[in-house]
Amino acid sequence: MNFLEERIKKDGNVLSDHVLKVDSFLNHQIDPALMSQIGKEFARRFANEGITKIVTIESSGIAPAVMTGLTMNVPVVFARKRKSVTLSDGLLTASVYSFTKKETNEIAIAKKYLAETDRVLIIDDFLANGQAALGLIDLVVMSGAEVAGIGIVIEKSFQEGAKILAERGIRVESLARIASLANGEVSFINEKLEELV
Ligand code: G4P
Repeated sequence: MNFLEERIKKDGNVLSDHVLKVDSFLNHQIDPALMSQIGKEFARRFANEGITKIVTIESSGIAPAVMTGLTMNVPVVFARKRKSVTLSDGLLTASVYSFTKKETNEIAIAKKYLAETDRVLIIDDFLANGQAALGLIDLVVMSGAEVAGIGIVIEKSFQEGAKILAERGIRVESLARIASLANGEVSFINEKLEELV
């Protein structure tokens, strides 16, 4: 198990077969030291990609994205889910449907923060059905910039997102890959592989 998988085992709570609660270090209270480690790991994995900008979505993507941006020395832009009074002109927008919340959100980024010359690394906290990631990809593509890859903190590999992104030929690097949350237990893809060896 890597550092993040160990932390999930220690502090994560399985709420159901589909939902993992990690609000003691990622989704509500944030552990800065862990975020720093996560940022360094994404920076290491995407070091040779010529990344010029990081794009994420509020709110829980921001902490890992900022730490990655700090290590890679590039700016971080987060897509907003709500209309902002100061953000109205020159917006790129996309619709994101959440299967979890059964609602559609408009997400938006100001055009001026993405240039056609940018090579973008998208970062998010969870990959479930992939709808947030697809919305972010749409925004980047609309701007004329290029998506170099996606960094995910926790991938729920038993949901559709990872497959959908792989089919689109996008490089996805997930730091923890959950094979199952059945019976109140977290099991990781790597553990399953180790069992097979
Ligand atoms: P998708 O984007 O991959 O399709 O995911 P989905 O609609 O299912 O997820 C909606 C929200 O729930 C997202 O956060 C996502 O990060 C989060 N989420 C999905 N699965 C889990 C899980 O097992 N545990 C936790 N803790 N969160 C999960 P959001 O609504 O954008 O919230 P936030 O970023 O403001 O915290």
